Amino acid sequence: MLRAALLFPTLCLAGREVENLDQGWRFVHEEQQLRRCNSQTFPSALRGRCPSLAPQGRPEDGAPGSAAACRDACCDDSSCNAWQWCGDNAGCESPNTCFKGLIDIQRDCSGHGEWEGQGDPSREPEPEPRPGHPCNFQQCLRDFNDSTWTQIDVPHDFVVAGNFTPRADKSHGYLPYGVAWYRRQLCLQEAAEIMEGSRQSWLEFEGVMVKSKVWLNGAFLGSHSSGYTPQILDISPAPLESGCSNVLAVLVDATAPDGWWYDGGGIYRHVWRTTTSPVHVVPWGLYAPAKVVGAQSVDYGDAEVYPIVELVNKFQDQKAIRIACSIRSLDGQLITHQDLRSVLAPGETVEFPLKTMYLKGARLWSPGSPSLYEMIVEIWSTDSGNEGPPDDQIKTTFGVRNLSWSPDIGFSINGVVTKILGTANHQDFAVLGVAVPDHLQEHRLKKLQQFGANAWRTAHNPPNEALLNAADRLGVLVWDENHRNGQDEEMEVMIKRDRNHPSIVIWSICNERLCDTIDVRGDAERLKALAHRLDPHMGRVVSANYNNFNGNRTPMDLMGFDYGPEMYDKWHAEAPQAPAISSETSSAYSDRGLVWNNRTAGHVRDYDTEHPSWGQTAEVAWQAILSRPFVGGGFTWTGWDYRGEPTPYSWPDVNSHFGILDIAGFWKHRAHWYHACWTAPSDGYVLHLLPHWNWEPGHGSVDVWAYSNLEELELIHPNGTSLGRRQAPQCSRAEWQVPYMKGSLTALGYLGGRKVKTTVVSTTGSPSALRMEIMDGIGAEGVRANGQDVGLISVEVVDDQGAVVPTSSEMIHVSATSGIVLGTANGDPSSLEPNFSPRRSAFGGRLLAVVRPEPRGLGRTMTVRAESPNLTPAELRLKVLGLNSAPEHSDMAVFV
Ligand code: GAL
Repeated sequence: MLRAALLFPTLCLAGREVENLDQGWRFVHEEQQLRRCNSQTFPSALRGRCPSLAPQGRPEDGAPGSAAACRDACCDDSSCNAWQWCGDNAGCESPNTCFKGLIDIQRDCSGHGEWEGQGDPSREPEPEPRPGHPCNFQQCLRDFNDSTWTQIDVPHDFVVAGNFTPRADKSHGYLPYGVAWYRRQLCLQEAAEIMEGSRQSWLEFEGVMVKSKVWLNGAFLGSHSSGYTPQILDISPAPLESGCSNVLAVLVDATAPDGWWYDGGGIYRHVWRTTTSPVHVVPWGLYAPAKVVGAQSVDYGDAEVYPIVELVNKFQDQKAIRIACSIRSLDGQLITHQDLRSVLAPGETVEFPLKTMYLKGARLWSPGSPSLYEMIVEIWSTDSGNEGPPDDQIKTTFGVRNLSWSPDIGFSINGVVTKILGTANHQDFAVLGVAVPDHLQEHRLKKLQQFGANAWRTAHNPPNEALLNAADRLGVLVWDENHRNGQDEEMEVMIKRDRNHPSIVIWSICNERLCDTIDVRGDAERLKALAHRLDPHMGRVVSANYNNFNGNRTPMDLMGFDYGPEMYDKWHAEAPQAPAISSETSSAYSDRGLVWNNRTAGHVRDYDTEHPSWGQTAEVAWQAILSRPFVGGGFTWTGWDYRGEPTPYSWPDVNSHFGILDIAGFWKHRAHWYHACWTAPSDGYVLHLLPHWNWEPGHGSVDVWAYSNLEELELIHPNGTSLGRRQAPQCSRAEWQVPYMKGSLTALGYLGGRKVKTTVVSTTGSPSALRMEIMDGIGAEGVRANGQDVGLISVEVVDDQGAVVPTSSEMIHVSATSGIVLGTANGDPSSLEPNFSPRRSAFGGRLLAVVRPEPRGLGRTMTVRAESPNLTPAELRLKVLGLNSAPEHSDMAVFV
């Protein structure tokens, strides 16, 4: 049966209890059978272009080169129910291209006369049972024996554990998708009260990819079909038992992934249960908007706060209520407080605007100084007396800042014009897939701050809440993106859940073809109005990554320029009243440290020269943004490499090449370009030389580039002669053709005529030893044995002088005692060892290992060892910490 011990305690405080349900699940999964159809059973070809189909590449990129091959590719693809071969005369944008995808035939393409077939009938939605309806599978019955299933904790991504195969879908990373069951015991001490209605209890699944159905004790609670939005489920329709014999069962269907990137599968975000009084604040029902009304300085101002609380009375009779609201500093000092009384009719849900609260001399939130406050709301129903423990109690963090958007000078925060230097990112991570532990969200942001980024776009969906919490703490500006245009419910949940995060400065309604609906503009205008209604006070604008919304009569507050730098001036001239941003740019691709393109190996060179037809080099993309004050900033596609979408190639590449960082988090040369372009010399001198200097004797000339934020550069040949001193163009590069000679290539950087920086790239010796380091401090203080946290370890191949050998690709095996090696990653997009493999070759002399303490490894040390034939092995110790830290829920009740 399920593991009984719950390692995270229930947080039982006054009226509201929030219980974390991440631990103690049992899991089983069935991989999807590939090759699910043939031309007889599945003849859904399209005539003309259906915009919801994803281009799968051109024949020269390895895509199939005929209609029949295109259909076959669709039949092999779990995310495909329609295909189109755009031949020479088909009139599509990219002739001789295969398009395939999953289409809701009722919504997307019907009415345009584009369908020939009927799609896959097995994809027709089943009728939804009512809550409480008995389950019709064995696996959701309470007494089903799941003892042979695997024990796991969530966050959990089961797709990432698979083996790469060329028969799985390219855009989803060549990993087979599938269907899974999860079951877990649920202890309910207050079952009788919940059933009689004197307590309310709901489950919250923060994110289950892709579609899910949930049962409790064999009774249906509900289903959800978006992997990117949370689901709230009242547990009262189920027959509840007092004690721990209740069983939760979740069916997850990940066979039809929603995006054209890797989106994983499983219960990949946290699970919670909240229990409270029938008079309570509804989920995401506290809005804490703050406005600066008198600036004192860049960092301080007088502010007004306009709290709104949405309450429900689930009792059968009217209730007199008392609401108390206080604002505190994060160290718990009470700043201001208010109390009010009202009446709630039976069954009524009401939004209460509370009285305006004042913060004199508030510390303002900004990227340079991300100050936060906390708002706490307590509710008493007069039945239980107005004093004593409240019936319900919630808190939220919030921040005070002043945003403005100008069509002429872009974005300002607290009166300071600030270019948005952003990257767009999907949510997966090396080894772990989309099941990213909270503490790594902070790591993902900090890694981008290291090269000067100040903003993150959540492409193409609402993110994990922990990412937004981390952005608030670190001062990262966020473009928060809804998944699809026209889906009001998704947009509403995103805004209500996220609107108290000061880091969010832009709401996006959609991206590119996810914006396409039958009434694109009408849907967009409605979602924009919804955003302003739900978030009227925080100075945010509504945008989209969609060029059809730019220029003449833009329906957006902020025009989102999607690539197309040659169009910026035209769009701006057509809509001079509308501020603008480059919502997506560049899509340059490269693989860390490489000098040559190699289609067979699936490798792209790491000079800033390679990009798809719709994209630009980093240099072209950012010069267009930085030279135009009216463009508020931009978001490079992407900060991190991610699984799937291996443009410009296909198999054996299983992940993208777009990242500025590779999937393991190592810097490509391109990261140094951004570092040089996005860093003022007053914040640090940058001078980077590429490529490596390990060539065979007699190699001939090498194309040497330097990225720098200094004024002049000089290159000294290994033979000691100067190859000349020259201007260093900003956000560009200096280039030399250098005859190879073993030794050291030295670059000197000058500012105001003074030499301020020296960078040396030397020929290394041959591989001699392995070296391990904790990467970016993740695990430096120890790793908590909570089943979620991990340590990140970089393994390097070094010569006998300790220099990393940049050309080495030794096979490395990582092992651990008192810990588990969850897997390894090396940043090579064509590395085909499974994600969870402890063995992988180094790429460019480096490898990442992701390790976790053994369950109940409390108080021990974990030892991690890396070995490779013929190299001196390396060993590292990590402290294992206690479990005293459950993940943090945004509505977590608190003592006051
Ligand atoms: C964009 C799209 C992204 C990604 C990118 C690759 O047009 O929004 O999701 O596909 O292209 O260059």
